[in-house]
Amino acid sequence: MTVTRQAVELIDHLDRGYLRQSLEHDVRTGLTAAAKWLPPKWFYDAAGSELFSRITRLPEYYPTRRELVVLRGHADEIARLSGADTLVELGSGTSEKTVLLLDAMERAGALRAYTPVDVDAVTLGDAARRLAARYPGVTVRAVRADFERHLALLPRAGRRMVAFLGGTVGNLDPAAREVFLTGLRATLAPGDTLLLGADLVKDTGRLVRAYDDAAGVTAAFNRNVLRVLNRELGADFDPEAFAHVALYDVRNDWIEMRLRATRDMRVRIGDLGLSVPFTAGEETRTEISAKFRPDGLRRELSRAGFTVIRFLTDPDGDFALVLAGT
Ligand code: AVJ
Repeated sequence: MTVTRQAVELIDHLDRGYLRQSLEHDVRTGLTAAAKWLPPKWFYDAAGSELFSRITRLPEYYPTRRELVVLRGHADEIARLSGADTLVELGSGTSEKTVLLLDAMERAGALRAYTPVDVDAVTLGDAARRLAARYPGVTVRAVRADFERHLALLPRAGRRMVAFLGGTVGNLDPAAREVFLTGLRATLAPGDTLLLGADLVKDTGRLVRAYDDAAGVTAAFNRNVLRVLNRELGADFDPEAFAHVALYDVRNDWIEMRLRATRDMRVRIGDLGLSVPFTAGEETRTEISAKFRPDGLRRELSRAGFTVIRFLTDPDGDFALVLAGT
């Protein structure tokens, strides 16, 4: 078998120093706080990305499938309305849904470049090479970056559609979302668009099951952050001593994932010279995943300076895909 090697450009804004510093800062801040927390960004090493990929195939985890339904039904319309020749994808992961958009852009006769943006080099490189092989004439420029910090550094060439799919915007709390959306808006040129995927408020039972699956994949994903800390910071967490917790906060309209210590323990974070006490039952927040109401989402977008071009949902109203312009 012949493998055609397509050139992929990799732009890396996360040198070891940067990653290390932000990990150290996040862990020190989060684990010394009165109410402990860790940011979800650190779930996604190669193992975590693989676990997330398994989550997307779980019967309980509806968001990926619902977003696919919207994309399948409306990709051509999105491509046409956006007029984009360049797709920039934030938090691209394995880029599984991306081909629907790229195919539609190709049919619209305007596909020139694809720029996946992600923190994990392995996942990013694999996805970039796979898509470069699939779209031989297209410039694939993979950018390793933190989408909360490096928006201004993203390539500006072409008429861009910036896709932020999967509902990852829900990992940001309202204040962080405002900063993110306003910052993103500021980097867009006239004619550029944002394609935003957002999970919608729905029955609490379904929401919680999506984050607490019967097979325990989400629990393994949640505990993976402790394995990342063990490896990267010389910590000695016993991941099995923490229970996976998923609950829906109705006041904030968000899912919270937590890790609950099942016994009193002290954890050494070697590289930080830190010894962190946990009491039995104590919970560390590892993720929020906000769920949106259509009106609220529109309001947030317009406050950040976007104009909603098209607000799409699947027939069950589970998941929204919003195309917004400048
Ligand atoms: C990748 C952020 C969209 O919040 O639903 C899945 C991550 N966490 N199961 C989400 C996740 C637990 C996911 N996002």
